[in-house]
Amino acid sequence: MKLVFATNNLNKLKEVQALVPSHITLLSLSDIGCTEDIPETSPTIEGNAIQKAAYIKEHYNYDCFADDTGLEIEALNGEPGVYSARYAGKEKDANANMQKVLKNLEGNQNRSAYFKTVIALYIQGELRTFTGVCEGVITKQKTGDKGFGYDPIFLPNGFDKTFAELSLKEKNKISHRGLAVQQLITYLLNV
Ligand code: IMP
Repeated sequence: MKLVFATNNLNKLKEVQALVPSHITLLSLSDIGCTEDIPETSPTIEGNAIQKAAYIKEHYNYDCFADDTGLEIEALNGEPGVYSARYAGKEKDANANMQKVLKNLEGNQNRSAYFKTVIALYIQGELRTFTGVCEGVITKQKTGDKGFGYDPIFLPNGFDKTFAELSLKEKNKISHRGLAVQQLITYLLNV
């Protein structure tokens, strides 16, 4: 089975590739010659995931899936949420995004947050979505150099290491994306 994973994020590709069984061949956007920016203009995480998968289906006619992820922080009324990639500005700067979160939470005892990933899959003309959530807290400083994005400031519940201190395998077992991908795989094994 060949499936396009509609992402340019090599970190996401690595995480998902590590979970997908070998009979499913993942194609990247460059594999199908898609070099343009895919629109992501929905006000919701689910909407963006569907928009990205629908774009590939419509323009390239491949079975495909896309993911969209947001970090929702309780004390910030759910921010950065759907704006997680550009929280500190337009350039998707992970360090600037983390600095902004740490600054906005300065002195705040409520550090509860969760990551949410929605995967939208178009296969055989049908749309399915899968959601994964990982709850935790925002640390007071950055720790660890693995992973990507907000990983150095996210401590998943029940762990004493941030996502950026966990191996890819450990993160995948409990992460929002790992949980959503596991549902995706279960579905694909039965189509
Ligand atoms: P998107 O799904 O690529 O739009 O991601 C939104 C934002 O969340 C970006 O700033 C990503 O770097 C960040 N992000 C997505 N997934 C993760 C993750 O697993 N850990 C930490 N940050 C993430």
